[in-house]
Amino acid sequence: MKQYVLLAGLLGVAIAQGLNGVPAAYAGFAKWEKVATSGLPTGGPHAGQAKVVYANPAALKEWKSGRALPVGSIVVKTAGPTRAPTLIATMEKRRSGWYYEEYFPEGGRYVLKFGGPNGQQLCVGCHTGVQAKDFLFTRP
Ligand code: HEC
Repeated sequence: MKQYVLLAGLLGVAIAQGLNGVPAAYAGFAKWEKVATSGLPTGGPHAGQAKVVYANPAALKEWKSGRALPVGSIVVKTAGPTRAPTLIATMEKRRSGWYYEEYFPEGGRYVLKFGGPNGQQLCVGCHTGVQAKDFLFTRP
């Protein structure tokens, strides 16, 4: 059991290192549940890419309930290969509401390009369209 936990920990670190530049809280998405892999809306800024949406355990618990997701929920959308995505978009439920960030690979690491402390409005503009689903497009 101990070895298993250690191995899982090391794997987590390995994955996190592969996503250099992405905050640790988001970098572990590959271990979370996939909540959407196909049938994603074709519109939007990332149209036409092979996208996957992951929900952390807190988000997963309420994903299908119709209720607002709890503080601590994190939803990550990636495009491209799981271990080296060409896009990592994140939504984190904070006390103040959803917080949005979007990372792209550049020069061997991931760089925050959109969203973030000064860029929330861009993301909010679109996601407000699905306010009734707690701002999540792919939620049922
Ligand atoms: C032009 C509209 C638009 C803008 C702007 C936009 N999104 Fe989205 N977003 C979508 C659509 C549509 C989806 C559904 C999945 C898909 O088609 O990619 C989505 C899905 C997501 C998801 C998966 C959870 C969900 O809602 O289903 C995340 C995470 C996300 N967006 C993050 C962001 C971030 C971060 C930004 C700002 C940097 C942003 N989005 C800006 C339209 C938009």
